[in-house]
Amino acid sequence: MQDALVERIDAALESAISARKLAPAIDEAARYAVLGGGKRLRPILALRACLAAGGEIDDAVPAAIAIECIHAFSLVHDDLPALDDDDLRRGRPTVHRAFNESVAILAGDALQCIAAEIAAESPRNPLPILREVLAGTRLMIDGQSYDTEGVFPDEVREEEDRLRLIHRLKTGALIRAACRCGGLAAEADAEILERLDRFGTAIGLMFQIVDDVLDETQSTEHLGKTGGKDRASGKRTFPSIFGLEASRTEIRSLAEDAVLQLDGLDPEGSKPLRDLVAMLAVRTR
Ligand code: IPE
Ligand code: IPE
Ligand code: MG
Ligand code: MG
Ligand code: MG
Repeated sequence: MQDALVERIDAALESAISARKLAPAIDEAARYAVLGGGKRLRPILALRACLAAGGEIDDAVPAAIAIECIHAFSLVHDDLPALDDDDLRRGRPTVHRAFNESVAILAGDALQCIAAEIAAESPRNPLPILREVLAGTRLMIDGQSYDTEGVFPDEVREEEDRLRLIHRLKTGALIRAACRCGGLAAEADAEILERLDRFGTAIGLMFQIVDDVLDETQSTEHLGKTGGKDRASGKRTFPSIFGLEASRTEIRSLAEDAVLQLDGLDPEGSKPLRDLVAMLAVRTR
């Protein structure tokens, strides 16, 4: 459905990395991390949000690529032995397995810098877009810290609040940033930007709840990453705290909430975003 967009995104990612002429070891690992498949949800969201806000797709390409580079960095570091310690990603060995830990850390670092450079090249609103990408990255890192260290602000005491904070940040922050960047690339007004913000917040949380459910219900082979990993490593997840049925109910309610947020946007321009929500709610990988 999104084939043309994905082709466009992949080509832009390829040329963004090539243009940097990275040190060979980092170049190889960064290519492996970024170009080895993936659903490309975040860049698709940035491009679709830009179109829904009345903008031109070209204006959102740098922001879309920047967010995907941050996402790839987050996965490379998420899989490291010091974090989730995973061997499999997108059906292949993780970057530290295929290369080594040093290269995985450095490739992740390099991808952050590349993302900032590209975001700054946005034709419209480059500074707000750069700030959005960096703030989203910082919030994602906060979320990773809550997820892996379990040290929370004093006021966040309830298990449910801790779980929601983790998910809103580790996964929601970048998805929300992707949607906001699309709006900024379209030079959308404050009201449209706020709608895209709430839309991104709803699907960001929804996306991670689905990820939690799939971790419990799908095989390693089907997922291309290790299934059953969250329970085995004692992670806070929606199924572990609320059970699978309540998790599925929450997914449906967040999908409805997300679609409601699109009401103020052009119905035709925002239809692909509505279709995307429906797909994301029932995805199996
Ligand atoms: C995986 O994200 C990590 C989470 C935030 C749940 P995706 O499911 O978007 O991973 P790829 O990019 O498609 O591999
Ligand atoms: C992903 O959370 C969050 C980030 C990578 C920032 P998970 O740890 O659940 O993602 P997977 O399941 O390894 O893809
Ligand atoms: Mg993790
Ligand atoms: Mg993980
Ligand atoms: Mg997961």
